[in-house]
Amino acid sequence: MTINKHILLGVSGGIAAYKSAELVRLLRKQGAEVRVVMTQSAMQFISPLTFQSLSGNPVHSELLDADAENAMGHISLARWADLLIIAPATANLIAKLSHGLADDLLSTLYLAATCPVYVAPAMNQAMWNKAVTQENIEKIRRHSVRVIGPEQGDQACGETGFGRMSEPTGICSFLAQALEDQTPAAAPCLHGLKVLISAGPTREPLDPVRYITNRSSGKMGYALAKAALNAGAEVTLVSGPVALAAPANIEVVNVETAAQMHEAVMSRAPDHAIYIGAAAVADYSPAIMQPEKIKKQDEQTTIILQKTKDILAEVARLDKRPFTVGFAAETHNLEAYARDKLARKKLDMIAANWVGRELGGFDSEQNALHVFWENGGETLEMTDKTRLAEQLISLIAGRINTPLNKKGE
Ligand code: CTP
Repeated sequence: MTINKHILLGVSGGIAAYKSAELVRLLRKQGAEVRVVMTQSAMQFISPLTFQSLSGNPVHSELLDADAENAMGHISLARWADLLIIAPATANLIAKLSHGLADDLLSTLYLAATCPVYVAPAMNQAMWNKAVTQENIEKIRRHSVRVIGPEQGDQACGETGFGRMSEPTGICSFLAQALEDQTPAAAPCLHGLKVLISAGPTREPLDPVRYITNRSSGKMGYALAKAALNAGAEVTLVSGPVALAAPANIEVVNVETAAQMHEAVMSRAPDHAIYIGAAAVADYSPAIMQPEKIKKQDEQTTIILQKTKDILAEVARLDKRPFTVGFAAETHNLEAYARDKLARKKLDMIAANWVGRELGGFDSEQNALHVFWENGGETLEMTDKTRLAEQLISLIAGRINTPLNKKGE
C-alpha cells in the first residue's frame, strides 16, 4: 500500500536519527517515494548525505534558502506529501508543534501540511515523563497527530524507561497500515437506523461515599457513537460516569450503576436496529448498600458481592432483538474465549482486545481489536480509537447488510 506514495520524513536532533536512515530504506523497499527534511540539530547526529543516498532525493533543511525554495519550496513539499512522519521527534520539536511555532523548515512544513501527520518521539525517559511533555503530546493528539511509541528499554543516556524511538520496522508497518486506511473505502451506511450504545464504567455503591468501579474511560463507546452518527444513524448513548463531553446530536442517557444501565438499555433496545455493548459493566455489585458510612473495625473485612444482570446477553435474548455486538477483554486464549462469549451470549459480533499485553485498551487513546462473528472474523490493527470506531462501524454496517441479517420488516 506504500507503492508510489509520497512520504515526507522529518528528522529532528536526537541519537535515534540513525534509525531513521533504516526507516527510509524500508519505506523505499515497499515502493514509497521518500523526501527527507532535517533540522539543524539533526545534522549534528547524521549527515544529510546518508539520507540523500538512501532516499535518492536531495535533503531539505533550509526555510529561507532561495535556491531550495525554487527547486521545491516548503508549500510544494507540504502539498507533495501523502503523509508526514517525524522520526525522531524530540521533546523540543513536539513542544514547537503543540504551540504552532514555525521557525525552521520542519515546523513550518507541519503547519503547511494538510496530509496525516505521525510522530515517533525519542527522548530521555525523564523528559518523556515530564508533565509538560505529556501535555504537549496530548495537545498534538487532539490536533489529529498520531503518535507512534515511544517504547520502553535501555536508553543511549544509560537510563531505562519509556523514551526509545520505535523500531523502523514497527514504524514502517504502522505507516503502511495507515496509508491503506487512507484509501477511501465505501462509506459505511447506517442511514435511518437507530443505534444504541453503552459506554464507560459503572459504579457500584458500598455506602454513601464509596463505590467499586473500573478503569474504563468511555472513549471507545463515545468514538463508536460519533462514528455511527457520521454513518447516518440516529444514536442513543447510555453512559456510565466518564470525563468526556456529551457529543453533539447524540442523545446521552447518564447512569451510574449496572442496574441503572440495565434499565436504561433494556427499555430502549427493542426499538433499535443495533446494540453495541461497549460499557465495562461491573460483573458483581455489593449485595447490600449500607445506608450509613461503613466504620473501620476489624483488621480484615468482607464484602458480599452479587452477580449483576448480563445486559448484553439479555438484549441478545429479546424477541425483537437488535443486531447485538459485545466486547471482550482477554489476557489469554483470546479467540477461544471471545468465540465462546459470542456463542454463549448469542451475539451477532464480538470485538475482543488483549489486556496486559498490547499497548492500548482501557483508559488509553489507542487500541487494536479482533472482531469475530459466526464463521468469520477480522483484525483491526492498533490505531487511535476514533479510527478504530469507524472501522468497527464499517464492519457492522457490512454485516447487517448481509442477507442473513437483513431485517425482513
Ligand atoms: N456486559 C453486560 N452486562 C454485564 C457484564 C458485561 O452487558 N453485567 C457486557 C459488556 O458491555 C461487554 C461484554 O458484556 O460487551 C463483556 O462480557 P463479559 O462476559 O463481562 O466479559 P468479561 O468481563 O471479560 O468476562 P469474563 O469474566 O467472562 O472474561
